[in-house]
Amino acid sequence: MPGYSNIVILTGAGLSAESGVPTFRDKGGIWAKYDYRDVATPEGFAKNPVLVHEFYNMRRRAHEGIKPNAAHLALARLEQTYPGEVTVVTQNVDALHEQAGSHNLIHMHGEIFAALCDSCRARRPWTADLSLDLACPTCGHKGGMRPDVVWFGEMPYHMTRIAKLLATADLFISIGTSGNVYPAAGFVAEAAANGARTVELNLEPSDGVTLFDEAIHGPATQVVPAFVERLLNEN
Ligand code: OAD
Repeated sequence: MPGYSNIVILTGAGLSAESGVPTFRDKGGIWAKYDYRDVATPEGFAKNPVLVHEFYNMRRRAHEGIKPNAAHLALARLEQTYPGEVTVVTQNVDALHEQAGSHNLIHMHGEIFAALCDSCRARRPWTADLSLDLACPTCGHKGGMRPDVVWFGEMPYHMTRIAKLLATADLFISIGTSGNVYPAAGFVAEAAANGARTVELNLEPSDGVTLFDEAIHGPATQVVPAFVERLLNEN
C-alpha cells in the first residue's frame, strides 16, 4: 500500500455498536422501534415536541457511561501516528471518537451532547434532559431548545469543508455505515471521482459495496485495528 497524504474516514453507527450504542437499520435497530418521521424531522418536532424530547433524552441518557471501543481507539492512533493528514467525518452523534482521542473530527449529523435554539440558532454543550419548559440561555426564547442533531430534511453540518476534503483525499475509508443516507452515502463516489482509493470496512456488504475498490467485512473492533495496523506498517 502506498503512503497517503490525505486520508478521509467516514464513520457510522456500526463503529459504535460494540460500545453498546444501537444502530439504526440492523434487526432490532432504532428505526425498527420508531418511525423516523416522528422523531427525526423538523415536522415531527413541530407536531409532537414532547415525543422528540423523550426520544433524545432516552438516547442521551443511554450514552452516559459508554466507552470507546478498539475501533475508535485505532482511528485515534492512526491520526496521531500516520505521517499524512487523517480526518474522521462521523455521522454518529455520540462522543466516542473524541473520547478515544481523535481531534481532526467532523460531526456532520451534530452531537447528542449539545443543544440548539431553533429561534436564535445558538448552540451549546448539553448533558441534561431537554424539555419544552426550557428557555434559551442566549436569547431567552422558551420552548425552542432542541438537540443539536441533524434531522432528515435538514442540511448536514460542515458540507463545504467535507467537499474540500473529498476533493483532495487519496484514501477514503467508510466504516460501519449502511450507505443509505445521503449526502454521506455519496462520499465514496465523490472521493473516487477525484482519484482516491476507496475501502469499505463493515460487518457485512453495505448497499454501496460495489462502489469501493476494496471491502473487508467483520466486526469493527477486529477489522478496523487490523486495517490501521496494515496502513501503519506499509507506509
Ligand atoms: P445504519 O444503522 O444504517 O447502518 C449501520 C451499519 O453498520 C450496517 O451496515 C451494519 O451492517 C454495520 N454494523 C453493525 N454492527 C457492526 C459492527 N460491530 N462492526 C461493523 N459494522 C457494523 O447506520 P448509519 O449508516 O450510521 O441519521 O446510518 C446513517 C444515518 O441514518 C444516521 O446518522 C442517522 C440514521 O437515520 C439521522 O438520524 C439523521
